[in-house]
Amino acid sequence: MASKAFLIAILVAMVAAPSMATEHMVGGDAGWKVGVNYTVWAAGKKFYVGDTLMFMYQNGSDNVLKVDGPSFQKCVASNTTGLLTSGNDVITLAKQGKKWYISTVEDHCSKGVKLVITVAPAPAPAPLPPQSPGSSGASKISPFKSCMLIVAALVVFKMVLS
Ligand SMILES: *[C@@H]1O[C@H](CO)[C@@H](O)[C@H](O)[C@H]1NC(C)=O
Ligand SMILES: *[C@@H]1O[C@H](CO)[C@@H](O)[C@H](O)[C@H]1NC(C)=O
Ligand SMILES: *[C@@H]1O[C@H](CO)[C@@H](O)[C@H](O)[C@H]1NC(C)=O
Repeated sequence: MASKAFLIAILVAMVAAPSMATEHMVGGDAGWKVGVNYTVWAAGKKFYVGDTLMFMYQNGSDNVLKVDGPSFQKCVASNTTGLLTSGNDVITLAKQGKKWYISTVEDHCSKGVKLVITVAPAPAPAPLPPQSPGSSGASKISPFKSCMLIVAALVVFKMVLS
């Protein structure tokens, strides 16, 4: 029985896991280019470890370089190791903390093609809302999760029977 309880715990943990990582299209539809204010774009957005940043631009007209705070402020790139140039650059946010990105093309950085964000630790699994008959809490479970819960329940039921 212990092993079954363990399996049930794993299934429940899988279903209750936090929602999938977010892909952030930097600049929205405008992408990564002169004329977009990335301070305004980033305002109010939450960035978590595991999320991705997608820098979309015409290749050749911009690029993406991860820098430190002082380089970001001054728009200087003394170390171009890791320069991204594809025009379809995807960066996975691996660690929490402040991250700085600039374009090193001409004076694009000083024209505003620069992004600073603060990455938060991956969100902990949300506690289940209190369940009471007729409460609206249950409606917060997404259809996908409800579906997964049913599948998990069926799997467990089958294991118990076998
Ligand atoms: C843009 O990408 C294409 C295909 O990867 C490549 O052949 C071309 O040289 C690139 N252009 C510039 C300006 O980097
Ligand atoms: C340049 O940056 C890369 C990647 O961020 C780092 O590994 C390397 O040590 C840096 N080189 C210098 C000279 O700072
Ligand atoms: C972006 O917008 C902010 C807030 O409106 C402003 O303070 C900042 O100067 C703008 N940056 C650029 C490069 O225009």
